[in-house]
Amino acid sequence: MKAPARWWPVALSQALRNKPLAVQLFDQPLVLFRGETGEPTALPDRCPHRFAPLSAGTVHRGQIQCPYHGWRFADDGRCTRVPGTERPPGSTPLLDRYPTYEAHGLVWASTLPQPPATAPVAPAEQSGVVDAFWMTEQLQCSLTDAAENFLDGFHTHFVHRGWVRHDRQRQRVTARVRPLDDGVEAIYSEEANQAGLISKLLEPTRGISMGRFRLPCLAEIEYRDRKGALTLLASAWLTPCGEQHLQVFIRVATPRGRLPSVLKHFVLRRLFGVILRQDRQILERVSANRSRFAHSPAAPLDAPQDLLGPSIRALVECGQQLVLDEREIELSL
Ligand code: FES
Ligand SMILES: [Fe+2]
Repeated sequence: MKAPARWWPVALSQALRNKPLAVQLFDQPLVLFRGETGEPTALPDRCPHRFAPLSAGTVHRGQIQCPYHGWRFADDGRCTRVPGTERPPGSTPLLDRYPTYEAHGLVWASTLPQPPATAPVAPAEQSGVVDAFWMTEQLQCSLTDAAENFLDGFHTHFVHRGWVRHDRQRQRVTARVRPLDDGVEAIYSEEANQAGLISKLLEPTRGISMGRFRLPCLAEIEYRDRKGALTLLASAWLTPCGEQHLQVFIRVATPRGRLPSVLKHFVLRRLFGVILRQDRQILERVSANRSRFAHSPAAPLDAPQDLLGPSIRALVECGQQLVLDEREIELSL
């Protein structure tokens, strides 16, 4: 798999403390740890001596120690200690360091030698005080399938029957689709009477909702009430670890309300956990079924309600914008 020259999230900042973390980005196994200055460091997860995984080792004052013979490496890949020998370790790095960055609660990396020219893709601005929590998930499917699924309202009546929507309780909505500088967005209005449990709990009066995809891997859902105030912002970064294998980081933000955040997060985590499991099941079935038909591949058949899927495919696979002008469509959601 070829990695585009972009920043990709590889870990939650809060998960990278004083132990190394094994992650994988576009088939490249990496070890993450905090170097001497506390900045995240990414090195190949392979000791050059006998190839033990460095992620199974330990971190000592910002240097990583291999679990096998204890060789130590600084955050620039130099070997600083070879136990059992007096030979001074050389000054040439034995491991190539990958670019890393820390922002928006995430550790970002790139598998290319130079840091990408564009900044990591940030969540939408949130005015007012919000409570946020993180969820992580692994999915055996492609980035395009997962991004479309996250933003597609038309599977929710079936995959999340009763949790998000009901097939027997549809309503007419107007959807506007517009291009963004680095993605595409759908804006739904007149979606006030939500039938599903999640909406009943979260947002009695939905005014407007948005689903957007931004390169390279951010799928985001935003709900606002009739006054335009945020009720929910769910930002999902979908990082390809390899072919048909994603590491997903989801940040769920809600306005601070009367309910204590611990309690609110407990309930939301449970609810979104159910939704995520249902999505994972259908996405993995889709992937598995696609490989059963590997001998006769076919292009997906798009319908008018597939508002974002075709654009997401064009953006991810060809880096091209498919939606050039804003368009509006009426649908039964
Ligand atoms: S394999 Fe790492 S020190 Fe020997
Ligand atoms: Fe879903």
